Amino acid sequence: MMNSYATGAMIRRLREEKGLTQAELAEKLYISDKTVSKWETGKGYPDITLIEPLAAALGVSVPELLSGENISNRNRAGNMQRTLFHVCPVCGNIITSVGECVVSCCGITLPAQEAEAPDEAHAVTVDPVEDELYVTLSHEMTKSHYVSFIAALTFDGLKLVKLYPEGSAEARFKSGGIRALYWYCNHHGLFTQRVERKRPRA
Ligand SMILES: [Fe+2]
Repeated sequence: MMNSYATGAMIRRLREEKGLTQAELAEKLYISDKTVSKWETGKGYPDITLIEPLAAALGVSVPELLSGENISNRNRAGNMQRTLFHVCPVCGNIITSVGECVVSCCGITLPAQEAEAPDEAHAVTVDPVEDELYVTLSHEMTKSHYVSFIAALTFDGLKLVKLYPEGSAEARFKSGGIRALYWYCNHHGLFTQRVERKRPRA
């Protein structure tokens, strides 16, 4: 799980965000400011016994400090509308989260995919069929270039349909409450489109 060790750049950034001087941080850890300066300039690493107090002094968790990424989720309960997709470029694993997190797979840290508005090659067709939405793409589905999933986001849930090369680029979703669709091309990344809610008939 550990991808790296507490880096100098990370320590410096967190220290500055906390408004601490090197001397103030050093004092909290009963070490010298010279030591902190060494860490921050990459001339040394904090001893493993200092990692916990260092993380506490910088106001982050140990995994955040060690991964070099800090997480700022204000809403601990999470929020479906902030759903993030992390896709492993090596094995194709898909990990979704309801807030920022550090995710790793196959030994690499996976950034959250940034969803874009679809271009022509990645456009979806959305057809209501009875109480379902039928979503299709005309994108190729070859072994090397394909759409690997289509997902529908509702107020309180996410339904993800896994697609496979040589299969068809389509998915059906219960249409109630769908707010947005997401789909992922292994070469071109994540796309999204809002789903307009049908006005209830008077
Ligand atoms: Fe593509």
